[in-house]
Amino acid sequence: MVASLAAALPAVSRVAVIGAGAAGLVAARELRREGLRVVVFERDAAIGGTWVYTPATESDPLGLDPGRDIVLSSLYESLRTNLPRECMGFLDFPFSSRRAPDGGDARRFPGHREVLRYLQDFARDFDLYGLIRFRREVERVERDHDGRWQVDSRSVDEAGGDGGDESEVFDGVVVCNGHFTEPRIAEIPGIDVWPGKQLHSHNYRVPEPFTDQVVLIIGSAASAVDISRDIVRYAKEVHISNRSLPDEPPRKQLGHDNMWLHSMIASTHSDGTVVFRDGSSVQVDVIIHCTGYNYHFPFLKTNGIITVDDNCVGPLYKHVFPPSHAPSLAFIGIPWKVAPFLMFELQSKWVAGALSGRIALPTKEEMLEDVKAWYSELESAGWPKRYTHNMSNKQFEYHDWLAKQCELPPVVEWRNLMYEAAGKNREARPESYRDEWDDDHLISQAEEDFTKFLCHSSISSIY
Ligand SMILES: Cc1cc2nc3c(=O)[nH]c(=O)nc-3n(C[C@H](O)[C@H](O)[C@H](O)COP(=O)(O)OP(=O)(O)OC[C@H]3O[C@@H](n4cnc5c(N)ncnc54)[C@H](O)[C@@H]3O)c2cc1C
Ligand SMILES: *[C@@H]1O[C@H](CO)[C@@H](O)[C@H](O)[C@H]1NC(C)=O
Repeated sequence: MVASLAAALPAVSRVAVIGAGAAGLVAARELRREGLRVVVFERDAAIGGTWVYTPATESDPLGLDPGRDIVLSSLYESLRTNLPRECMGFLDFPFSSRRAPDGGDARRFPGHREVLRYLQDFARDFDLYGLIRFRREVERVERDHDGRWQVDSRSVDEAGGDGGDESEVFDGVVVCNGHFTEPRIAEIPGIDVWPGKQLHSHNYRVPEPFTDQVVLIIGSAASAVDISRDIVRYAKEVHISNRSLPDEPPRKQLGHDNMWLHSMIASTHSDGTVVFRDGSSVQVDVIIHCTGYNYHFPFLKTNGIITVDDNCVGPLYKHVFPPSHAPSLAFIGIPWKVAPFLMFELQSKWVAGALSGRIALPTKEEMLEDVKAWYSELESAGWPKRYTHNMSNKQFEYHDWLAKQCELPPVVEWRNLMYEAAGKNREARPESYRDEWDDDHLISQAEEDFTKFLCHSSISSIY
């Protein structure tokens, strides 16, 4: 049973999008396609969010001080994508290596600048720049008595120009503020007396400052793998503390003479030693926390209806709509362990359709029931709360579910196969997966698909 939207909502016409990263850009495009009037608020002076590399780092290298000057991007200079470009791009804007013939980065796992260029081309080809208000930070989003949303923003013009504070009313708000800016830190016994230097991967840029140092990297995911390889060329020793490893003595990382894998840290001490759970210890100069990020919506005033608890944002129907405010408040990009751009695009199509009234949502009660069912599924699988939005083995199903809501066909098979093949390859060849692979047949399928698509499209600037 679905509720009649038309009866429940005033006509939606103006929608605010918060953020002009990949999620905000594709959301803006989809909302406009549905005939909605869109204003995108972007704190930065440029589009691209995460993909705008800056050598700048934050005043607090751990990123904990709430009063610090925030640097948005977490990119390091050497970063190359961890997904093959063909399955990383949007559905209908191929991120093919045949694009950018003029000095672009044609590698299958390109450097970060190529991704930014792709997003800039996307924004230009879909004429999105005119929708964006740059250097405006949304400070407050609150629902009025009549169900509309008041959006307060301030100018962040460095020159201190005019602009100032503004307050505007919108029918809908789509939150696309990203979730790789607010560091999450490991709790370590004794860290208060440990004399070394600490930083979070958010503030890691280049390896040279770690020359001849003994570096301990905490983390098990992509950034720990990449940053350890980046630094090991300069550092005296690199140690990785990986909570997925059993409490066993350290072992050398294959292929490296000065890199060791350890279990979790047991304690740290005032003489600079770090003791691991297996009893071994190392004298360490620097700890780098590659321990991920927290969701953070400092502007959202919803009287406790939407909360962030142990990295669970809730309640959210299908990770997108808070049932009590659906569809006028929506979140794009919450799930992780996904192919982000594709997911942003499908979520955006769903949100845009729901906001225009073309796609109906279930009732509030039904949505809440669905959220509860998801929570109990996680619980019976023994997953911690912080994994609520981890889509590792659910994302293909989730994408197809979203596509179905939008009356679109399921995601084309090569994308899923390629995503899986890349994951397996990354496990098997952590050092070289970006340059060696076994799925050329999938690249051919992707290119065939892209060519077919481009024949039926008005986009001309890609090849
Ligand atoms: C180190 C690293 C490596 C990654 N590698 C890959 C990869 O290889 N492949 C891949 O597909 N994905 C990768 N990702 C994931 C990446 O985050 C996504 O690809 C995507 O860029 C996220 O887009 P987003 O729009 O959700 O968020 P963001 O890119 O963070 O954009 C959010 C935007 O919102 C703006 N904003 C925030 N708050 C406000 C406010 N209050 N008012 C106004 N504007 C605001 C910000 O300025 C920013 O521009 C990586 C992420 C990281 C951190
Ligand atoms: C941590 O261990 C897991 C499981 O063995 C592995 O998949 C992952 O790549 C490791 N991470 C690092 C940074 O070594």
